[in-house]
Amino acid sequence: MKEKLEKIKQEALSQISSSDALEKLNEIRVNYLGKKGELTAVLKSMKDVAPEDRPKVGQLVNETREEIEKVLAESIAKMERMKREAQMKREVIDVTLPAKKNNVGHRHPNTIAMEEVERIFIGMGYEVVEGPEIETDYYNFEALNIPADHPAKDEQDTFYINGDFLLRTQTSGTQVHVMEQGKLPIRMIAPGRVFRSDEVDATHSPSFHQIEGLVIDKHITFADLKGTLAEFAKELFGADTKVRFRPHHFNFTEPSAEMDVSCFKCGGDGCRFCKGTGWIEILGCGMVHPNVLTMSKIDPEKYSGFAFGIGLERIALLKYEIDDMRLLYENDVRFLKQF
Ligand code: DAH
Repeated sequence: MKEKLEKIKQEALSQISSSDALEKLNEIRVNYLGKKGELTAVLKSMKDVAPEDRPKVGQLVNETREEIEKVLAESIAKMERMKREAQMKREVIDVTLPAKKNNVGHRHPNTIAMEEVERIFIGMGYEVVEGPEIETDYYNFEALNIPADHPAKDEQDTFYINGDFLLRTQTSGTQVHVMEQGKLPIRMIAPGRVFRSDEVDATHSPSFHQIEGLVIDKHITFADLKGTLAEFAKELFGADTKVRFRPHHFNFTEPSAEMDVSCFKCGGDGCRFCKGTGWIEILGCGMVHPNVLTMSKIDPEKYSGFAFGIGLERIALLKYEIDDMRLLYENDVRFLKQF
């Protein structure tokens, strides 16, 4: 029995040492240690062994089994390690290769300027609303006190879609949409795209952006308008900025004005930037006309308000000292990536 066990052991060990694959080692395990394996067969034949020899033989079988198991486990571990190393060699990454450049875009100067204006007004408690780009004649003109055949319509010729529908020439129509909702008081700005049949040049484009503003409450006066817009100018162009209001005409406001800011380039002395005047025009504004309030079902005896309209491109061009508006629309990354 002892010789038999020794023979089995030697055979198993030599098979183990000559195997070159994990599958083979598994096969050896089954052949020797499995249910129908050779060692198990020896255990089963214990009944033929004299009872007094059984413990000794049993011990011998166990020792043999342990020895084979130990060598087998070592071989399996070694083979797995080799397999892993080979795989790592195959999958090696060359970290010295130059990386692919990832071009991340960023905000357009128009967007940066718009978010800056929004930030300032939100800080003063205004709501940001959006109006439709396709309007009817009523919202774009009529309800803003610009009746059919009024000469003011000449300056704002636009693209008509069919019949009554047109591409809005100004964001002012959004004032009417908001007033019609009937919720008072109102403190809102409405940024958005507008359209006019203008030729493209350094200061004109058939499509550009405005930011409309509207405040309606009891006891709103021109002083509120002045204070608000002066504060806005300081936030946008710096604390030393001064403002001045020049009388103007807009159909939907009375009185109306245009607001200039002191030139932030020369501080008001006069330079190329402000064409020697020391002032730069940045918006139109005024007290909402009683006709406009009445048409939108707000009682002008109880409520008053002010409105303003800012040209967004103008702000972007001024802030970033860009001298041609066309650059904003050409999408040339060499230009855009400077901001
Ligand atoms: N909508 C005017 C324009 O396009 C700008 C404007 C002026 C808007 C005065 C206003 C305002 O709300 O009060 O020229």
